[in-house]
Amino acid sequence: LSSVDIDLSSVEVGQRITAMWRSRPVFIARRTQEEIARARADDGDPGLIDPATDASRVIQDEWLIVVGVCTHLGCIPLGQDPAAPRGEWDGWFCPCHGSVYDTAGRVRRRPAPRNLDVPPYEFLDNGAVRIG
Ligand code: FES
Repeated sequence: LSSVDIDLSSVEVGQRITAMWRSRPVFIARRTQEEIARARADDGDPGLIDPATDASRVIQDEWLIVVGVCTHLGCIPLGQDPAAPRGEWDGWFCPCHGSVYDTAGRVRRRPAPRNLDVPPYEFLDNGAVRIG
């Protein structure tokens, strides 16, 4: 399938779900106000490895949608499950070599060289998101 529709109506604030798109996981996070604020506060951080504003990575502030594949060597980062480590920026932690991503999916600790990719997507009128 080149695109997939995911119903978001039952996703609660603070919840993260995983969809599959083109055989890859896509992380869908309904972010809390705190998570959004934290991402925005770091927009100008000179330590960003792959500088990008939070706003440039979302369509709606509450929803962060990224391909759940580490940009280092392709492992699947942890953090979808609230019981798993999310790293010190409270985003995602890659267990393979220790890369850390923030609540905007931006890489904050190497070796990953790039932010998590944002797939093409659009919100539909029926409360779903179409990825692809
Ligand atoms: Fe994620 Fe290496 S594959 S840190």
